[in-house]
Amino acid sequence: MIQSYDLYLPTHLVFGKGRVSELGNLIKGYGKKVLLTYGGGSVKRIGLYDTVKKILTDAGCEIFELSGIAPNPKIESVRAGVEICKKEGIEFIVSIGGGSTLDCSKAISCGAFYDGDPWDLVIHNDRIGRHLPIFDVITLAATGSEYDGGGVITNEETKEKLSVGGCYPVASILDPEYTFTVPANQTAAGISDILSHTFEQYIVAEGSMISDGFCESMLKTVMHFGPIALKDPTNFEARGEVLAASSFGCCGLLGLGRTPSPWPCHGIEHEVSAWYDITHGVGLAIITPHWMAYSLKANPSVVAPRLAQYGVNVLGLNPADGVEANAKKAIEKTAEFFRSIGITQTLKDFGIDDTHFDEMADHVAKAWFGDFSTAIAPLDHAAVVEILKASL
Ligand code: NZQ
Ligand code: ZN
Repeated sequence: MIQSYDLYLPTHLVFGKGRVSELGNLIKGYGKKVLLTYGGGSVKRIGLYDTVKKILTDAGCEIFELSGIAPNPKIESVRAGVEICKKEGIEFIVSIGGGSTLDCSKAISCGAFYDGDPWDLVIHNDRIGRHLPIFDVITLAATGSEYDGGGVITNEETKEKLSVGGCYPVASILDPEYTFTVPANQTAAGISDILSHTFEQYIVAEGSMISDGFCESMLKTVMHFGPIALKDPTNFEARGEVLAASSFGCCGLLGLGRTPSPWPCHGIEHEVSAWYDITHGVGLAIITPHWMAYSLKANPSVVAPRLAQYGVNVLGLNPADGVEANAKKAIEKTAEFFRSIGITQTLKDFGIDDTHFDEMADHVAKAWFGDFSTAIAPLDHAAVVEILKASL
């Protein structure tokens, strides 16, 4: 039955070829002192850096830069950005690149109005007050950060990967052509991330017809166009459909009217990528089928119908084969899909063993925003360790 919901979508999405040219209009009225943030150089190779700099210069902006923001962005980059904002009186931020650059920019924008260390804001979201306005040009279809308020930051010292919240971009520009150069492994990781955002909200106890449809459309779109984008990286339609889908992953639309999800695969994956250097989407592709299998085993009467619905409506399984068989087949086909897009590894391939699994299971229960006992099959410490071990 449809549940109560809140949906807050304040970000202006500007999607389409060449639409970066509208950045100058979008930033009007937000000031002149801008912090331009980016990662390791992909934005220079694709010409986006020069384009954006010219637009900002033509708009009369004084530009300060923070470069070298790494995947799984680190708190050190946030601290460096906050320092620039405070010293220079930055009025707004323009983030160009993937989700990591945008997430880091969100944390910087919150830290700019906070007196203490910005890591406090990641640990204590309730201390976040004002934040600087953020504009972005996203160049990788994956996180959905362009349409949500979260910014995930890693602290290598404390082995934690957690998020600031409530920090929505003012406007996000999405041009599929800027994603043409995303390498195959990152494209696959992005596809997996979008699918996981959907599974997290789709595979819950109670659904609603309207958001069943949103979720199933997301899964069908990405499973159809993702492999085309991988084979033909400059296929505008395929890149465009996947990029469009990415925005809706974490904005709340997919969970509309459904049992709220504690996002178990994300909680577990963030523990893994806090300890080890693993791409977020790859970790999710490895963990997700094992989470599904655990959930089916632990709570078959609730989980089997949901997985079977996914099997029939998304994967084209035959309803006549029955709920139990289709639930199992849906899990197999999900794992098969991840392998088909080139994610064939297990956690072991990243040098991971079970040394820290107990600490991860303890930490996720303590620090993660979601309560794992509310997952479609409740997850306790032993369950988290079991899923991690199955993923080795
Ligand atoms: O650093 P550069 O040189 O820009 O290269 C990046 C990086 O090496 C490269 N890249 C990006 N766009 C490219 C490109 N290479 C060629 N052509 C382009 N057009 O791709 C690499 C990965 O970039 P990154 O930004 O790290 O990837 P992604 O967008 O997948 O972001 C991953 C981070 O987002 C977090 C993840 O945990 C991870 O830290 N997430 C953020 C969420 C959110 N804010 O809502 C939700 C997600 O669930 C996720 O947790
Ligand atoms: Zn994700």
